[in-house]
Amino acid sequence: MASEQLPLERAVRLGTHEQSNPSFRPACSTEFSARAKVPLGPGGRKSGNVIKAVRGTRDLLPPDTALWNFVESAVRDVFRTYNFHEIRTPIFEETALFARGVGEETDIVAKEMYTWEDRSRAASEKGQSLTLRPENTAGVVRAYIEHKLWDRGLNKLYYIGPQFRRERPQKGRYRQFYQIGAEVIGPASAGSESPARDAEILEMLATLLDRLGITDWNLQLNSVGCPGDRARFNEALGQALEPVKDQMCVDCQRRAVTNPLRVFDCKVPEDQPMIDRLPRISQFLDEGCRAHFEAVQAILVKVGVPFSLNDRLVRGLDYYTRTAFEFTHGALGAQNAILGGGRYDGLSEALGGPPAPGIGFAIGEDRLVMSLEEKASAESVLRKPDVYVAPMTGMNAEAARLARELRRQDLIVELGDDTFRLKKSFEAATKVGAKYILIVGENEVKAEAFALKNLASGEQVAVARAELATRIRG
Ligand code: HAM
Repeated sequence: MASEQLPLERAVRLGTHEQSNPSFRPACSTEFSARAKVPLGPGGRKSGNVIKAVRGTRDLLPPDTALWNFVESAVRDVFRTYNFHEIRTPIFEETALFARGVGEETDIVAKEMYTWEDRSRAASEKGQSLTLRPENTAGVVRAYIEHKLWDRGLNKLYYIGPQFRRERPQKGRYRQFYQIGAEVIGPASAGSESPARDAEILEMLATLLDRLGITDWNLQLNSVGCPGDRARFNEALGQALEPVKDQMCVDCQRRAVTNPLRVFDCKVPEDQPMIDRLPRISQFLDEGCRAHFEAVQAILVKVGVPFSLNDRLVRGLDYYTRTAFEFTHGALGAQNAILGGGRYDGLSEALGGPPAPGIGFAIGEDRLVMSLEEKASAESVLRKPDVYVAPMTGMNAEAARLARELRRQDLIVELGDDTFRLKKSFEAATKVGAKYILIVGENEVKAEAFALKNLASGEQVAVARAELATRIRG
């Protein structure tokens, strides 16, 4: 096996050598190929050395994509009824956006970002550090500032798209994953700070999950306070960590000094008893934050959205203020957070914008689809072809014309091939799950009437061309 990879490995080694040794003369790939006597395919790889999807990424294939589309169209429907509108921001941004927005000390920024130096292509262009977005809130707030969206009052925005984090892949955790998120942001005068906004977001999420048939969710709710509360909490945490920090993992030893709040992100089992004894943020909320949190809870009770209070929930991103939440789902195992979110009242200022309180969430779409798979198979939401059009010898053109007529009437049509014998057409029609097969022969075209067979019941009838769509639709 190792010797099979030799040409590519050698090419890579020589590539490194080339950089360190200026007298090295590069050899072309055919030279390697001839020397190693292994044929190289396009790109200089040994043919047969199959390229696979990168670790932590995956292909979404039919029929599974039907479930993804089902989820996306259901969420778009729900977002519409709450008057949310779509925003699409770029997949990569300046690295500084995430460093300043999400926080230098978070796992996301410190360990998980795909960052590269983007070289300039012309003297007029500057090289810059860019990053594949690990989340979309910072991008939305950047867009809010860049396009002065405060002129529109309260912005209710949603997005659906890929995010990238270099995490250890496991079930429900990927390096390219998908989020469905929403953000409510605007000047305080437009009501963006109101607890009514927090409650509306949470009630919308409950509606969305229920509508998708995911009923056994659990909403965990906390308030992480405002910057003043956080400073007092961080100080208390720092003091409480002082006597124990040396017994903790290296990450926690660093966090204890730089940003004690992030100690709550620790997953090391041995550290958990010490973390359990640390002070809770609920003890440090000022009057305004306490009242805000109580108002959110009162609305949730009134509209009938159940929740549990969890004062250890601080979330893994630094921008949160006041309300923070997660929805968990039992079927997901270790990665049980189906979505998370919260308020970020100071994020716009941190990114150089005007005050713009905001609240939002992101659903892990991969995890949402996983919990859905417990209940609905992709097959059950997939719309199968209504009809398989089977041309007899020499009838491809007539069949194409007929298929076009039927598709224009919104039927799903699978078009066969006139080299297929009738038996093979029947097999193909059954394989794609078509409801009917329609035979297109010379006589049928002349008579303007076609043999239409129901593949489940075996019933066959001759149907006039003009009646076909109505008959197939049933
Ligand atoms: P987050 O908690 O980092 O929040 O991510 C939200 C959700 O994305 C998680 O609950 C999880 O379902 C999913 N997720 C995160 N990482 C992965 C991964 N590696 N593989 C699969 N799914 C993953 C945010 O991203 C915030 N921007 C949410 C927000 C919006 N807060 C306010 N507005």
